[in-house]
Parts: sequence; structure tokens; C-alpha cells
Amino acid sequence: MADMQNQSRRQFLTFTGKVGLSAMVAKAVGINLGMVDIVSAQTGKRGVEPFRFAIISDAHLYSMDNHKFDQQLADAVAQVNAMNPLPDFVLFGGDVAQNGTEDQLVKGKKILSELKMPLKVIPGEHDWYLDMGKAWSGLFGPETWSFDHKGVHFIGLNGILVEDFWTPAGMSPLERMTVMEMLESPIPGPWGVHAKQLEWLKKDVKDLAPDVPVVIFTHGPLWDYYPRWNFQTSDAPEIREILSKFAHVMSFHGHVHQTVYNKIGNMTSVGALSTSWPWPYPPVEKPFPASQMNRVDPSIATDGMGTQFIDLKADGYGIYQHNPFEEGVLTEFLAAGLKV
Ligand SMILES: [Fe+2]
Ligand SMILES: [Fe+2]
Repeated sequence: MADMQNQSRRQFLTFTGKVGLSAMVAKAVGINLGMVDIVSAQTGKRGVEPFRFAIISDAHLYSMDNHKFDQQLADAVAQVNAMNPLPDFVLFGGDVAQNGTEDQLVKGKKILSELKMPLKVIPGEHDWYLDMGKAWSGLFGPETWSFDHKGVHFIGLNGILVEDFWTPAGMSPLERMTVMEMLESPIPGPWGVHAKQLEWLKKDVKDLAPDVPVVIFTHGPLWDYYPRWNFQTSDAPEIREILSKFAHVMSFHGHVHQTVYNKIGNMTSVGALSTSWPWPYPPVEKPFPASQMNRVDPSIATDGMGTQFIDLKADGYGIYQHNPFEEGVLTEFLAAGLKV
């Protein structure tokens, strides 16, 4: 009962925050954002049947029993399972594991298996570089995929590929993993999806009509947010070019552990909250909008984490909603409803 009361209070606060942000940002930058714009949205043009999907990202599970990140991922699953309406499916944005070990990945799969709806997963660098994706692929399937759902085309890519730096250096798998775990590691160079996936992407979208809404999912942003921390995807310009024929492309990513938005051409990009820890913002000016999430109460361990959901409307636009764990963290920005 207490949970239900908390939930309804959170929903109320979320709603009030959403309206506040929408009005604030729309006024500040003169763009169409948020719930207020839905009223004027055209409907029925693209034949999309309205539905919701959710995003969970960056669990970073350790090889310890009862680690707090285990519970936080379980909390994310419970939060998604309690959504009304329920999402049709969930996308997981990478970094299930902290060190890429099989036990961490198995634990993540077990916790995520409590979801009431289907799950699609892409890899993060923390999942991959101990065994080059062997355990991850065995548990979660292909790293490159697409599917159509109710008129929307969904694409997932492995965006954490780097050139082989470990063989010339004679590194062990553990040394390779340790290098890839470092945020500012100078050795690996920028991550990308590389030529094979670019060719796959070209073929995947070749026969799609330009008015089909496209959702693309990569671990890192498809723009140069802060390459020094690999807050980028090296071949994002090529991806954006391949998708340039579409009227609307929505790019969702994990890795940054914070809210961040951008829009380049036809592509709106949104970064997901993590379930593990909130990452500090890099020292760059964010393009859109300029505000950033607050940590209202640093004494709350889960402040700045949560899940997110997207409501796809009949016109092919989506309303994006961050869903923080703690109502104490709720600011106007975190509760943003973003039209993408
Ligand atoms: Fe991460
Ligand atoms: Fe990551």
C-alpha cells in the first residue's frame, strides 16, 4: 500500500514537472517539446498504432552476492512492470556487467527475465571485451538486429567496436577488458559500428519508405558529445547519412548515465538514465536543451538513476519520459516529456 501511495505521488509529481519543463524549454529555445505540443500534433499520417516501449540501461553488475546494483536493476524491472499502460517491450542499452564476466552477465539476464514483456539488448563495452562478446552473445543473441512493431522500424547496433589494439601489445583478455573499462583510456581509440554493420544498415533500410518512423539504438551517442570519454560513436556521421532519407529518426543510447538530448538533421538523440550510478556531466556545453539533471539529495543512493519510456503516437512522434527511482530527485528537467 505504501508503495502504491509512493507510486501515485511520483506520477503526480512527474506530470506536474513535465508540464513545467515543456513550457519552460519551448519558451526558451522556440522548439516543439513535450506534452503541450501533442494537442496540435497531426494524427494518423504514418499508420503507426500507438504504443509504449521502455528503456533500461547500464546496470554494471559486479561478481558479488547482494550488491546494491543487483537490487537497483531489480527495482528498474519492477518499475517497468508497474507502468500503466505496460510497455510492449523493453530495450536494454548495454553494460549489463561491470567486468564482462559470465557470472555478471548471467545474473543480469536472470534479473531482467522478471520483465513481463519481451526484451531486446545491445552490448556495452563492459559486456564485451573480456571474451569479445562470447558470453554476451550466448545469453542475449545477435548484437545487430532490427524489427518492425506497429508501423515503427527498430534497429540495434553494436557501437562499441574498436580496432585490435591487444594482439600487437600482447595483452591478455583481462588486460584488454581493463583497458576498455577505463573512461579516458588513450589506447583503444574511438568506438564505432564499423564497416560490416554500416553495410548491414544500408541493406536493412533500403526498402523502407521515408515516412516510416525509425528508432535506432546504440550504446554511445550518435553524435560527438565528449569523445575523450567515448561519449560518441566514431562512424555516427555515416549512420546519420544512411538514415537521412527518413522524415524522423529517434536515437536512444546508454553509456552516459545521464539525461542529454541533441538533434542533428532528422535525428533526435536522447541519453538514458542508468540503474547503477549517475555520471558527472563532461565539461562541454550541451546543445539541446542546456539544462541538466540535478542531484537534489546526494544522500539518496539512487538519486539520478531510473528508467525511461517512450509513447509512440499515431503520427510517428514519441513522447519521452525519464522515470527516476527517487521522487526526491525529481526536477522539471528529469521529468521532461520530450517530443522526438
Ligand atoms: Fe555504463
Ligand atoms: Fe558504457
